Amino acid sequence: MKIVMIHGQNHKGSTYNIGRMIANKISREDIVEFFLPKDLNHFCLGCYTCIDDVTKCPFYEEKNIIMSAVEAADVLIFTTPTYCLRASAPMKSFIDLTFNYWMSHRPRKCMFSKKAIVVSTAAGCGAKTAVKDITDALFYWGIPCILPYGISIQAMNWNGVNDKKKQKIERDTTKIANKVLKKKNVKVGLKTKAMFMLMRMMQKADFGSGEADRAYWEKNGWLDRERPWR
Ligand SMILES: Cc1cc2nc3c(=O)[nH]c(=O)nc-3n(C[C@H](O)[C@H](O)[C@H](O)COP(=O)(O)O)c2cc1C
Repeated sequence: MKIVMIHGQNHKGSTYNIGRMIANKISREDIVEFFLPKDLNHFCLGCYTCIDDVTKCPFYEEKNIIMSAVEAADVLIFTTPTYCLRASAPMKSFIDLTFNYWMSHRPRKCMFSKKAIVVSTAAGCGAKTAVKDITDALFYWGIPCILPYGISIQAMNWNGVNDKKKQKIERDTTKIANKVLKKKNVKVGLKTKAMFMLMRMMQKADFGSGEADRAYWEKNGWLDRERPWR
């Protein structure tokens, strides 16, 4: 099982360690990791060149390295420390830079069969809202199976996390990994299907972002009877 991990931080603290525990419990073999901002140190400029041609994004080369790995993966694991109740700024920047993957633009067929796990730790509160920043984006990418894990750890780093909390994390991460391993074929749910159909109606009515997005939907056959799920 191919796993790609995207970390919203360069350092290996509590969030990284929890994400890595989950990954190791799923498969120790095929794990590729990206660290933000190290591997994509840019903010979206709002130039919209990606809407005409994705390869014209000024940051296409770096972005494409990550997104090619994402597209080839079976399981995605996102980690972010909770910063001011939300995902980290580098993670938010990554989400912005991949907005053209959303169902409102050019979703990738491969996304509709992937599983994703999103991890965030907070000292006190906010981990759940930080996780939601990412789960929302993955929903719009079309990913049908998204497992959120936000936890308060009362610590500034992994060494500061007490043993009782670490035991709980050990149990929780085993449960999450087992859920991923048990789900062989992921089914696309009603909510994803409904959002896709809404976006399809928008493309059909020419209310989308332009000709290139519409041509993409047309080429995939999604304006006819084809769907990105089986
Ligand atoms: C810039 C910054 C903002 C933070 N904001 C919050 C917050 O809103 N809520 C909270 O409970 N902890 C907050 N924290 C604490 C971290 O979320 C917490 O220590 C987390 O477990 C760190 O994860 P890491 O070890 O992976 O870096 C913040 C820490 C930093 C550095």
